[in-house]
Amino acid sequence: MRILVTGGLGYIGSHTCVELLKNGYEVVVLDNLSNSKEEVKEKIEKITKKPIKFYFGDMINEQLLDKIFELEKIEAVIDFAAYKAVGESVTKPIEYYTNNVSTVLVLLKVMKKQKIKKLVFSSSATVYGDPERVPIKETDKIGGTTNPYGTSKLFVEQILKDLYKSDYSWDIAILRYFNPIGADKSGLLGEDPNGIPANLMPYIVKVANKELECLSVFGNDYPTKDGTGVRDYIHVVDLAKGHIKALEKLEKEQQGLYIYNLGTGKGYSVLDIINAFEKANNVKVNYKIAGRRPGDIAECYADVTKAKQELKWKAELGIEDMCKDSYNYILKRKNN
Ligand code: WQD
Repeated sequence: MRILVTGGLGYIGSHTCVELLKNGYEVVVLDNLSNSKEEVKEKIEKITKKPIKFYFGDMINEQLLDKIFELEKIEAVIDFAAYKAVGESVTKPIEYYTNNVSTVLVLLKVMKKQKIKKLVFSSSATVYGDPERVPIKETDKIGGTTNPYGTSKLFVEQILKDLYKSDYSWDIAILRYFNPIGADKSGLLGEDPNGIPANLMPYIVKVANKELECLSVFGNDYPTKDGTGVRDYIHVVDLAKGHIKALEKLEKEQQGLYIYNLGTGKGYSVLDIINAFEKANNVKVNYKIAGRRPGDIAECYADVTKAKQELKWKAELGIEDMCKDSYNYILKRKNN
């Protein structure tokens, strides 16, 4: 089956391309390289010893999308292409809504025209806003999002639900990611955001590697076990495998709209992560307590029952693997 992977050279997209190729899918990538590098294509091919087809461009370009569908005989789409830094989105709403919502409308228009209706959409736990309870179920209230990033994902989920209501022949899986960290064991792929990292793990890795001075812990006055923010960190390889299971579900069901949490079901605080990282890698992470970050919530972790029951998927890798593999990538990167 030929899959179009938008944002396929990004952090989660590249790991998913590896799993797709390992599972016998053919992969076509569209990426505008706004938060990725073209060299990732060769890394994916080196790990899997299989080729992928890469198109440089943006999903907003309808003509380009049409051309790709026609030339490449695309049968399904996994859409990763989006900006995803919670803090940054608070200061750049226009960029976030344009890039995260308008582009999906163009993609859906082209898919409809091309009569290709299988879509796996990269959504986010941020659609739950400040959750009423944890662990969070897919049926829990969504909305009340605290930042444009989360709101952009909420908007697209609503668009997909309205689309499905208008035409039940669509076959859509909405995957709500929690906090992806870690990297492929080879050390060839990993999270390597352009500029100063917005997310916790890439920042910790750069502090441990002495590329950055000190980690600021954004608040230790939250109503959590140690006052710092609690999140459900999931190994990116486990997350990638969840996409294969979602595709298999779409192939089996042929139509429907399905929503799944992709997390581990466990919550770790910022201080837990710092300690786990230091222990796993035998390094010191300098940090200081700073003020809260606008848009942040106290606690967020998943109830993963539904994905386990319906996709026969659950996260296998633990926090030690996540910390080791995250650091291994940066250490190997110098020699790659
Ligand atoms: C995690 C915790 C911060 C940086 C992410 C993605 C978003 C979505 C949900 C997929 C929080 C604290 C962070 C730092 C810190 N994922 N922190 N110092 O905000 O949960 O959102 O997961 O869709 O795309 O951004 O992740 O890594 O930014 O923060 O103390 O320098 O670490 O306050 O408690 P977040 P994060």
